[in-house]
Amino acid sequence: MRPMIQIKNVSKSFPSKAGKVDALQNISIDMEQGDIFGIIGMSGAGKSTLVRCINFLERPTEGTVLIDGKDLQTISNKELRKTRQEIAMIFQHFNLLMQRTVIDNICFPLEIAGVRKKKARERAKELLKIVGLEHKENAYPAQLSGGQKQRVAIARAIANNPKILLCDEATSALDPETTNAILNLLKDINKRFGITIVVITHEMKVIQKICNKVAILSGGTLAETGLVKDIFTEPKTEEAKRLVYQGTETTAYMRGKHFVRIVFNEQSSFEPVISNMILSFQTPINIMGADTHNIGGKAIGEMILQLPEEKEIADKMIAYLINRKLAVEEVDIHV
Ligand SMILES: Nc1ncnc2c1ncn2[C@@H]1O[C@H](COP(=O)(O)OP(=O)(O)O)[C@@H](O)[C@H]1O
Ligand SMILES: [Mg+2]
Repeated sequence: MRPMIQIKNVSKSFPSKAGKVDALQNISIDMEQGDIFGIIGMSGAGKSTLVRCINFLERPTEGTVLIDGKDLQTISNKELRKTRQEIAMIFQHFNLLMQRTVIDNICFPLEIAGVRKKKARERAKELLKIVGLEHKENAYPAQLSGGQKQRVAIARAIANNPKILLCDEATSALDPETTNAILNLLKDINKRFGITIVVITHEMKVIQKICNKVAILSGGTLAETGLVKDIFTEPKTEEAKRLVYQGTETTAYMRGKHFVRIVFNEQSSFEPVISNMILSFQTPINIMGADTHNIGGKAIGEMILQLPEEKEIADKMIAYLINRKLAVEEVDIHV
């Protein structure tokens, strides 16, 4: 199957007084139809630049982007405009038209696309139902909460049935509960309409909650990419490890030696392994923290253990855990 979004060797640099800024360096990523693809990285990593390259709001300095097989670098301007209509976008600060009511905000892109007023209103009402805002039809954006504003923005974004929805920090201005509700809505839209969604965020928990795949950007380069469940279980690069551990509340304790992080999934029953290990070694260990994450509908747990000081026993325990098919990694993080 050809990818819905193919980012091919994309580099982007901006001229600046102090010389040029390399915002993106040789990035290649494939996203399939129906993916909820996360792009994560610290501030300045190049996330927004990359997402703007996906619809050619930003033209890559090198490389190209193919949307559903169409090379944005070589198609005509007319075709580029048409392709852009298939790519919708939502933002951190919603970007609603403040002088227009909710329903008129949603009708706006429909009117631009030439839909008759009556038809547009019918469609807008349908969209309001999808995002759960039927009762706010005639409200103005200023009368809405952040979560409600983002719902309007989502309704407006999907009004013309786009193939792709780009979300640039769409939940970064929202509290955790509202974030969850918006992420659930995005997931629902992805399922119901098969829209490919690209989620830009600096928060691993957003990725864990809805994305099936992820790309980690660091200083304009692609540090690591793959399935969320693989990267969460076994982060390979320093950048990935940092992000995965960011979700661990025990990070602050992880100083010193003999800390291990173990990851288990539904299949490996985990408590018996730990208690059997303590029994067979006759040595206590410290459980520093445990957490379960729902990754793509699957419960994946992680636990941070502090093993005994004696290296010999600690090493044997690590071997014991690996033998029980748990992903084990020694961690030594200084915060
Ligand atoms: N239009 C621009 N002109 C100059 N530099 C830019 C421009 N857009 C982004 N940059 C620079 O590119 C880098 C990546 O920015 P950005 O893509 O916004 O990162 P992120 O979204 O991950 O925070 C930063 O160093 C930023 O200052
Ligand atoms: Mg950004």
